[in-house]
Amino acid sequence: MSASVAAFVAASVAAFVSATVSVSVPGFGVMLGCVADAASVGETCGADGTPYPPLTRPHPLLPLPAHHAGTPAHPWRPRLGSLHPAPVEGGPFGAPAAQAVRRRENARTEDFRPTPPLAARTARTGGSPVREILALTARPEVISFAGGLPAGELFDTGGISAAFRHVLDEAPRQALQYSTTEGDPALRAAVAARVSARGFATAPDDLMITTGSQQGLSLLATALLEPGDTVLVEDPCYLAALQVFSLAGARLVPVPTDDGGLDPQALDAIAARERPRLLYLVPTFQNPTGRTLPAGRRAAVARVAARRGLWIVEDDPYGELRFEGEPVPYLGSFPGAEDRTALLGSFSKIVAPGLRLGWLRAPAVLRRACVIAKQAADLHTSTLDQAAVARYLAGPGLDAHLERVRGAYRARRDALVDGLGAALPEGSRWNRPEGGMYVWASMPAGYDATALLPEVVRHDVAYVPGAPFYAGPADVGTVRLSFVTHPPEEIQEGLLRLAKTLRAPRP
Ligand SMILES: Cc1ncc(COP(=O)(O)O)c(C=O)c1O
Repeated sequence: MSASVAAFVAASVAAFVSATVSVSVPGFGVMLGCVADAASVGETCGADGTPYPPLTRPHPLLPLPAHHAGTPAHPWRPRLGSLHPAPVEGGPFGAPAAQAVRRRENARTEDFRPTPPLAARTARTGGSPVREILALTARPEVISFAGGLPAGELFDTGGISAAFRHVLDEAPRQALQYSTTEGDPALRAAVAARVSARGFATAPDDLMITTGSQQGLSLLATALLEPGDTVLVEDPCYLAALQVFSLAGARLVPVPTDDGGLDPQALDAIAARERPRLLYLVPTFQNPTGRTLPAGRRAAVARVAARRGLWIVEDDPYGELRFEGEPVPYLGSFPGAEDRTALLGSFSKIVAPGLRLGWLRAPAVLRRACVIAKQAADLHTSTLDQAAVARYLAGPGLDAHLERVRGAYRARRDALVDGLGAALPEGSRWNRPEGGMYVWASMPAGYDATALLPEVVRHDVAYVPGAPFYAGPADVGTVRLSFVTHPPEEIQEGLLRLAKTLRAPRP
């Protein structure tokens, strides 16, 4: 185990994204009606007249302007291992030795050329240590505070399978057929009703369905970012968002945070200096910190975005997991933000992540660009899954399920937070989020959460070190602890195991 833990630690800084496969489906985009109106995609200002930063380019079928050729090296995260020394050996023609044999066997040796290198962006972007560690902690004896895994035993398996059965019995041909890129109208209507009920008036046509909210992030990066553009992120930030923006060739600039989330004054100063295109943030029960941005700060962030001409990407997979305290309105609903916010939502944390269903609410011009990007990515999200979840949302199943989940998560949050004092080193700090899935803890100087992880995992318990979540200099003493995956008794046992390493006498 220790060798694989060491491999994880190395991978957390050096590995590259493991699976980026794109499939092109010629002809289908046009079949599905994807040719955009160039004028509408080119629109550049919100209702208040403040200019949007332009979308990536006016029309997806036009060639890139000359200055886009070549991708500048990205300053975020040093590239520790080059993925393309000389032309890559391997690829479709096999490993180097196999290539050599083929070369010898090939009568027309001079016709054999190695494959070209991989795209630089794949080498520039680190793999997700969260996903790496999930692989390490899959042993059943490990009590893991590491992964952001919703509690599987709470999934409404009965309700979800009934919804699938209904759809397949009632409208099987429709449910198994290709569909529109924007998504199932009934599902969009149900999402619009839920978002509106949270105080952000939304029509079904304001929305598109995505294959998880992670795809929403990729679509936004495609629609909004040129290589070299600046993106402002919370520090620390959701890791897979850093990956998306890094793969898009963006320059990531961290904005300082405190216990109340992003600091709007620092945001204003940084936005004035860096001239970013967009600000990405998770205002409610943030990943990794569990923090929630208070209403006053949301209003201030909205004003800064309007004044500095930024897009806002508000990522909200956790907002419906509030188990105490008062809900805070969506950032996108504050004056100044309405016409410049892309709001991402997800069914992963409230229904089940295996469905891979999310949604995106955005102004028409941006949504249209995202629809075109999605046509190129996967045509549309699974018709069957969308229809089944639309059916599920038509009944009382989700609200009843959420009641159960919130109650269980509150008990798990209590078990974790109440036990941390005895598990973490003297002088540690942590928060007590009112919802979501994560607690953020900070150990005192001298403790390095990444270095301690192999020893922690040897005791069959795990957390995620905080360092990889920082786009700026990391606080190496921080850890993210998920409280939702295990019931309270197992959480208590996990904390005892954690104490064996973290409270052990130090040399
Ligand atoms: C902040 C944030 N955004 C997006 C996602 C991706 O969620 P989905 O499963 O909807 O793709 C996650 C998943 O953990 C997340 O924490």
